[in-house]
Amino acid sequence: MSLLSIEGVTQRFGGLTAVDSVSCAIAPGTISAIIGPNGAGKTTLFNLISGFQKPVAGRIVFDGHDITGMAPHRIAARGLVRTFQLVQLFPDLTAAQNVEAGCHLRGSGGLWAALARTASARRELADAAATARELLAFVGLQARADLPATALTYGQQRLLEVARALAAAPRLLLLDEPAAGLNALETDHLARTLDAIVARGVTVLLIEHDMSLVMRVASRIVVLDFGRRIAEGTPEEVQRDPAVLEAYLGGVDLAAGGGSAHA
Ligand SMILES: Nc1ncnc2c1ncn2[C@@H]1O[C@H](COP(=O)(O)OP(=O)(O)OP(=O)(O)O)[C@@H](O)[C@H]1O
Ligand SMILES: [Mg+2]
Repeated sequence: MSLLSIEGVTQRFGGLTAVDSVSCAIAPGTISAIIGPNGAGKTTLFNLISGFQKPVAGRIVFDGHDITGMAPHRIAARGLVRTFQLVQLFPDLTAAQNVEAGCHLRGSGGLWAALARTASARRELADAAATARELLAFVGLQARADLPATALTYGQQRLLEVARALAAAPRLLLLDEPAAGLNALETDHLARTLDAIVARGVTVLLIEHDMSLVMRVASRIVVLDFGRRIAEGTPEEVQRDPAVLEAYLGGVDLAAGGGSAHA
């Protein structure tokens, strides 16, 4: 059974159909990616899934429950947590405090349940501060825990957002362009972190323009263009799809890292 099922979801802004009857299913324990040129409707689809906008048509089912139009905090409490395209940290708080702030969103299951398996871990989980340290170490930011968020490099801030989202104990984690602005070394670290997140029982759905990252980590890819789903499949299938090559300005080599056709 799929963890997330998107069924004919549509969103309009005035005369513009930003998301046009999109359907797709996300299997548990996988990394999937949504790609597509600028303005294709990727972030809008995330807004619909995470409850920040209500679709004008269609249905979103998470873990067997219809969450269409549900408030974001209720969706998060069910274990569906997202990050944003632009960094949204609390600038005056330390890195650790930013992660602690994510703890209040937690529901049950996923990473939380995985961490809670041992008695000593369970004791630690009572303490959001300890959890924050653990998650900072998990993403490789343990040495930055007590610095203000603004003292971190941009790449570190993006990882901090991932740690904060993990603090909410997601079963499904939505990441909107997590590699945007990262250098090659940071992107490589992110890729390994994503694999580690999945290994801990969290399913990942990411929007990403960095095609080499997408091809490396994602097992399924959904391609949007002008709000429509134009392709869906494995990285190999999507790279060969004529409609996808057309959408990316007639033949950008996806494997070589092109990606922003309508920009
Ligand atoms: N709140 C809004 N009001 C009006 N139009 C919007 C709104 N949000 C998005 N749009 C429009 O909907 C379309 C899809 O936007 P969206 O941000 O979802 O694209 P995207 O695929 O995330 O693009 P990018 O890769 O640049 O982030 C665009 O034409 C955008 O201008
Ligand atoms: Mg976007």
